[in-house]
Order: sequence, then structure tokens, then C-alpha cells
Amino acid sequence: MEHEAFPKVERDPVFGEGGAVRRPVDLFDPAFKANPYPTYAYLRDNAPVYRAELPDGQGMWLITRYDDVQALLKDDRFVKDLRNAKTPEELERLPKQPELLEQLAQNMLDLDEPHHTRLRGLVHQAFTPRLIEQMREKVRRIAEELLDAMEGKGEADLITEYAYPLPITVIAEMLGILAEDRHLFRGWSDVIVGSSGILEPDESQLAATFALADYFKALFAERRNRPKDDLLTALIRAEEAGDQLSEGEVLAMAFLLLIAGHETTVNLLGNGTLALLQHPEQREKLARDPGLIPGAVEELLRYTSPVEMATQRYAGETVEFGGSVIPRGELVMAVLASANRDPRRFAEPDILDVERKNNRHLAFGSGVHFCLGAPLARLEGQIGLTACCVVCRTCV
Ligand code: HEM
Repeated sequence: MEHEAFPKVERDPVFGEGGAVRRPVDLFDPAFKANPYPTYAYLRDNAPVYRAELPDGQGMWLITRYDDVQALLKDDRFVKDLRNAKTPEELERLPKQPELLEQLAQNMLDLDEPHHTRLRGLVHQAFTPRLIEQMREKVRRIAEELLDAMEGKGEADLITEYAYPLPITVIAEMLGILAEDRHLFRGWSDVIVGSSGILEPDESQLAATFALADYFKALFAERRNRPKDDLLTALIRAEEAGDQLSEGEVLAMAFLLLIAGHETTVNLLGNGTLALLQHPEQREKLARDPGLIPGAVEELLRYTSPVEMATQRYAGETVEFGGSVIPRGELVMAVLASANRDPRRFAEPDILDVERKNNRHLAFGSGVHFCLGAPLARLEGQIGLTACCVVCRTCV
């Protein structure tokens, strides 16, 4: 069996001979981006709570061991909302954001209790495993339509023609976006998810954000007049019912559902397919026994970690964590991709094994912000990878 899923880089981006630190971890170095696993292995062994630096000099702590990552995600001393981590004077000194971005930050993933629970409670019914299971045929139909469109072309791009449109079509149908508008939708969300989430958005990202917000607002107005059986109508009803949801929160929720479920699933389908192509013996097992597919998707989630790092957290107070002291207000990142390859938790973690047992990976995070869309992502992964990589034989 092979040990490396992704192309090896010629030089280790951070560490020189004998593992000596050559220079600090540069998170934006293309060599690190191409294969961060050797760096993460070194950090797990030598600096599991490591303070990296962002281009603006801001500190950013990387947490790389499985147990620490899980503990961090469940620790309410670390907060998501900056207002719970900084003093009013510190907040005052931060650069002012356009009002729309401040509005969009009012989403469950960027908030702490009690707002997080209230917002999550409003939509979690739509994402229960039972309801999502009822979408199996719909997701299969979308996958097959995309594959049919690719067939006979001679050459096709897996990401742009399959991995990309599949999840966006599914979430757009759930929200109630018109089929003829999906290309607009795709264009904007493409630009928006291109943002690192850590650096400030650039001009094109801001323009796309404003365009998508205008689109959503027009759609909300339309649903108020003509309600339908979709998620947007359900959100508007909650807003109209009074104190449950403000108009800004409806907008923030629509954005979150679109963005959170999009690039993540593209990564699972794209890197999952690549991993299966690089491990034909594992793909053969799946072709022989489709009963292995749900477990295989879990293994691909662990092995490829579609979300490399969980979203930002801040130390809400000065915290002693994993032997280090993290000052109040500093940025802390749980590196899921590293936790998922930690040999302290997984036997032979760099090996892809679709029959792996006891696979409690952290690809969907942990704690109160555990991925709301996990049942949908699993369904899309199972159908998407089976239809394309396991059953189809054209690109092997
Ligand atoms: C392979 C696909 C996916 C992966 C790997 C993934 C991963 C994650 C992770 C790691 C988090 C937690 C982030 C943190 O704690 O900082 C999260 C949260 C979330 N995900 Fe996903 N996700 C996927 C697909 C989806 C889909 C399809 C949806 C639905 C539209 C979705 C909706 C959400 C939402 C709403 C949250 C915020 C939950 C909260 O704050 O309580 N995700 N996801």
C-alpha cells in the first residue's frame, strides 16, 4: 500500500536537516500548501501548540494533536465572537468593516451562546439524518445528470463539471434558488469562497458578496409574497413570527448554508476521487462490495480532511493550554487535517484503508459547532464518489 496520497514536494517548507526549524511556518507558502503533512507531523511531535505569525504580524496558534484539537473545540474558554474576547477599547481600535460584512457575521458559526443555539435550532430540523436520507434519489438524479452531460465529451474537468456543481445544485434546491439563476449563484460563491477566511476580503470578494446579498434580498421579498415549500420560506416565516430571527440573520443564515456546504464538499469529491485513483486496490474493494462505501467516505474524510483547519477561535481569557499560555484575544486554529493524521489516535494514519475500524475522525469538527450539514455531506460523498469514481471506469 502507498503512504503518500498527494504529490511530494521537493523540499520541506519549514524544517531543515535533522528537523531543525529553518524558518517559521509560512501558512501561505505554496510548498506548505501543496503538502502540509510533514510540517504537521513535526509540529505534533515538537510544538503541538505552536504560535505562527500572519503577514500583519498577528499571532495565530496552531493546535495539531488529535486530543488537543478535540479538547479545544469543546472548550468554552475559546470563543468565536471577537466581542467576547476583546475589551471595548480593543474593539474600537479594529478597522471598521462594511455594514454588510458585520451583518453576515451574525451567523451561527461566528457566534457563541446563546445566539448560536437559537440560530442552529431554527434550521437543524432540515438537516436531520432522516430528512436528508429522503433526498437520496434527488442527489442521485443530480449526480447522474452531471455525469450524462460529461459523457461523450472525450475530456472533462472533474472539479468544474462535477464536484463543483453537485453540492451547489443540492443546496440551491434546498434553499429554493431557481434553476436558471444557479450560474449567477455559482459565479458569486466561487469568488467568495476563494477568500482564505483569515485575511480581509479583497475588492472582487466584496463585490461578489454585495451582489449575492442583493440577489438574496430580492428573493426574500418574492417569497414573502409567494411562499414555497423551501428553506428560504421557512427562514422568512421564522423572521415574520417576531423575535426569533432578524432580517440580517436570515441573510447571514442563507450565506452560511451556501458557503459552508460548498467548497467543503467540492474538496471531498475532488480529493476523494484523486485518493481513490491513487489507490486502485482500495477502489477495487469498493467496486466488489458497495456495502463498504459509507465507511470508505468516512476514511476519505479522515485521509483528505476537506476542511484543513476549523474556523477561527479566540482565547476569551488567558488560557493555559497544552503546556503553553495563550493570551486573551489571540487567534487559535484547530488543525483538523493534522488531528486526522495523528498516530497517537490512528494506526498508520498516512495509509488509506477503506475498511478502517473505529474511525472517529474530526473532519466535521467537534463540540457545539459540529458540522450541521454532516448528514448531507455524507450523502453527497457516498453518491457522488460511487457514481463517479467507483462505478465509472472511463478515467482509469
Ligand atoms: C465534506 C463536507 C463538509 C465538511 C468536511 C464540513 C466541515 C465542517 C466543520 C469542520 C465545521 C465546524 C467548523 C468549526 O468548528 O470551526 C462545520 C460547520 C458547519 N457546517 Fe459543515 N462541512 C461539510 C459540509 C457541509 C454542508 C453540506 C452543509 C450544509 C449546507 C454544512 C453546514 C455547516 C454549518 C451550518 C456549520 C456551522 C455549525 C455551527 O456553527 O453550529 N457543512 N462544517
